[in-house]
Amino acid sequence: MGDRPERIADVEGVDLAGKRALVTGSTSGIGRETALALGRLGADVMIHGRDESAGEAVVDELAAMGREATFQRADYASVDDVRALAAAVREWTDDLDVLCNNAGGLFREGKLTDLGVEYTFHVNHLSPYLLTAELLPTLADDARIVTTSSGAHRGVDIEFESIRSVDSYSGFRAYQRSKLANVLFSNELARRLDRTDRSITSNSFHPGAIPGSGFARFLPGPLPRLFAALGRLPMATTVAEGAATAVYLAASPQVEAVSGQYFTDCEPETPSAAARDTTTQRRLWEESATLLGIDEPLADVEA
Ligand SMILES: NC(=O)c1ccc[n+]([C@@H]2O[C@H](COP(=O)([O-])OP(=O)(O)OC[C@H]3O[C@@H](n4cnc5c(N)ncnc54)[C@H](OP(=O)(O)O)[C@@H]3O)[C@@H](O)[C@H]2O)c1
Repeated sequence: MGDRPERIADVEGVDLAGKRALVTGSTSGIGRETALALGRLGADVMIHGRDESAGEAVVDELAAMGREATFQRADYASVDDVRALAAAVREWTDDLDVLCNNAGGLFREGKLTDLGVEYTFHVNHLSPYLLTAELLPTLADDARIVTTSSGAHRGVDIEFESIRSVDSYSGFRAYQRSKLANVLFSNELARRLDRTDRSITSNSFHPGAIPGSGFARFLPGPLPRLFAALGRLPMATTVAEGAATAVYLAASPQVEAVSGQYFTDCEPETPSAAARDTTTQRRLWEESATLLGIDEPLADVEA
């Protein structure tokens, strides 16, 4: 009871009844805790992931709270699946109040997706970019977009020339770049939204290092078991603590008008210099549209 994201984020008094939220990657870990917390605050929640039985279990927990909940399966390595997820959201609501772009992971094997794009970059960045672009007309005018990045975004640059390559692949490096892309994306989105007549906010956050989520399951050798054991130590950051900043950004009145910021522990923090580079933000935005073969979202409000 004490270790609930909404309590840690000090938003237990917020009433989200009547609000609709999509939390991607909510079959497990931080996304699951975020979805359940938003449900406890009153929101109806769409659950997403690939593991159907895990997704349905979260739906059952939300239904037991009296919430309207539904699961949508979509593989983030598939453009068609992401489009189908967006279509399912449009069927579900005309006014999505909260979009948590959380699905993602660290993948040990270097491979290209059907789009010819490095898998981690595609799953962790291109798919949330596409989903957000698809959902822009469906978002409520005061919607909040929350993107799960990581402190691992520090210490790397994007390296646009290697997006279509897995030569000398390092799972951790690829992960770092994708998490940098999350902050760049979130900030560019915030700037473009700011020039519209809508009040939609976009923020990203670092949840902390959380060994107890499903994060380590794709790592090699004994690492998944080691991470799980670390997660049981009393000093480890819990999954609920990891979800607290997402719940804060999605629900707190304190950040109603805050956009284009990066948070840790429910506090704004300065992301890396690479993440703050507006030229790279704009280039990533444009190149992501090119890679997906779509018109640039919010092109009319570009600086
Ligand atoms: N744990 C940490 O220490 C940590 C630190 C910093 C940032 N993060 C970020 O937190 C977010 C959530 O991670 P977590 O720690 O909660 O790990 P997790 O328990 O493994 O959850 C990851 C979620 O993403 C979904 N997902 C993964 N690959 C997918 C794919 N190809 N298509 C569709 N969905 C996919 C998973 O769904 P299915 O399994 O059902 O496909 C799952 O719901 C990630 O963006 C991660 O980068 C985690």
